[in-house]
Amino acid sequence: MPAEVVDGREIATAIRRDMRREVEVLTGTQGRPPGLAVILVGDDLASTTYVRNKGKACEEVGIKSVQIHLPATTSREELLDILHGLNKDETVDGILVQLPLPPHIEERSILEAVDPAKDVDGFHPSNLGGLLTGHPLFVASTPLGIMEVLDRFQVAIEGKDAVVVGWSTIVGKPIAFLLLERRASVTVCQQWTRDLDQHTRQAEILVVAAGKPGLVRGDMVKEGAVVIDVGINRVAGKLVGDVDFPSVYPKASLITPVPGGVGPLTVAMLLKNTLLSYKARGSLPRKP
Ligand code: GUN
Repeated sequence: MPAEVVDGREIATAIRRDMRREVEVLTGTQGRPPGLAVILVGDDLASTTYVRNKGKACEEVGIKSVQIHLPATTSREELLDILHGLNKDETVDGILVQLPLPPHIEERSILEAVDPAKDVDGFHPSNLGGLLTGHPLFVASTPLGIMEVLDRFQVAIEGKDAVVVGWSTIVGKPIAFLLLERRASVTVCQQWTRDLDQHTRQAEILVVAAGKPGLVRGDMVKEGAVVIDVGINRVAGKLVGDVDFPSVYPKASLITPVPGGVGPLTVAMLLKNTLLSYKARGSLPRKP
């Protein structure tokens, strides 16, 4: 039987609708809305679109979004100064530095400068380390979006064979740990893994986040597998994932399309993290 296709846009809309009500009530009692600061350095086209979408989503749920657009020539020190200011700003609950940064700014030192308690992207080493111990303050939004799909569609995880293709710090590594935490047996592969198809064919849950269009074809997928495609690739002007949808769809039991699958959920999870931070921070300014 062909797969059930996840409508990420519909789920994200439902999440935002629920959040909007909660944010409205909290804003009334706390005297200020949750705040998310998004920093964009330079004019990368994809990043500009992502940042705009994040701003729109914030507006829709009543989160105050502060977008800081800096020129590509911004120095590391200037960026650090801005981050230190945002770390201290009590009206800012979440800070996100859109990646990639221009090549002259070392990414690691910037991500480490974000207060871990405002690190709604979950990229700070203390939050990534928290994933290993099972107690992160924040988990990156894309892996959270994947878990949201698995849970909404009541995919049993405990005892399952899960295969993750791709080992990025943003998706592959965190989702591997989240699945381990839920007692799956997890194999992490890369696009270079020898006999990749032998691994993927074992997967009852297959997460593909390798950034290579068409990497996973139907003959590489177990009958009835849950297939989560996290790839976002532009091929001949069209957005495609890492999974060859036409050949995988007939074999899978559940599949996320690209676009419209995990992508919209990523933004919804960022909003959730911001709300979580707002609720967790003890020193919320009160209404006068
Ligand atoms: N660039 C691509 N994906 C992401 C993301 O999830 N967060 C940030 N900050 N930058 C990105």
